[in-house]
Amino acid sequence: MGAGDGGYVLHRARTEPRTFAIAIDASPDALARGAWSAKRAHLANAAFLVEGAERLPPELACLADEVTVHFPWGSLLRGLLDGASAVVGSVAGLMKNGAELRLLVSSAVRDGFGEVTPSVITSRCANYVQYGLRLVDARWASSEVVRDSRSAWAKRLGVRRTRPAVIARYRRDAT
Ligand SMILES: C[S@@+](CC[C@H](N)C(=O)[O-])C[C@H]1O[C@@H](n2cnc3c(N)ncnc32)[C@H](O)[C@@H]1O
Repeated sequence: MGAGDGGYVLHRARTEPRTFAIAIDASPDALARGAWSAKRAHLANAAFLVEGAERLPPELACLADEVTVHFPWGSLLRGLLDGASAVVGSVAGLMKNGAELRLLVSSAVRDGFGEVTPSVITSRCANYVQYGLRLVDARWASSEVVRDSRSAWAKRLGVRRTRPAVIARYRRDAT
């Protein structure tokens, strides 16, 4: 979700032929590049959907074993931090029971959303429980976690070099 150029989805689809990976982003600008790369590589197990987290098609309900959100910004970041039903409820609606949601977030005061630390995530996790999402852990992200996200934005933002990131994991419980 908020897949940007879909680099992470391309990586997962290339390295895990039995995984079907879907990149979703509200903006077609970068996502279209990912879709072209998937086509050139004849990747039949990757799909690209231009849609906001707030408007996901019902056909995707309860399909995902895993949802990742790497370095969200804008309405996606705001909705995740506020625990808004339009975003968190919608994302939770994608997930099977037992599925994992992984958020990798870097937000400093100057970004306008406040500084995100592991304790900020922990203090807001009560908002997620109503959507069946239980916080498993929240911690500062290591360089390996940031590198493995394959995020073009992490490089651009200088995550780890000039600003930290938090990794938070939630489990979808039966509601
Ligand atoms: C900083 S970029 C990160 C892209 C990619 N995950 C990465 O790490 O390289 C944030 C992305 O969130 C997307 N986004 C923002 N609000 C969104 C929303 N409401 N629904 C879906 N995507 C959204 C933007 O279009 C943008 O591509």
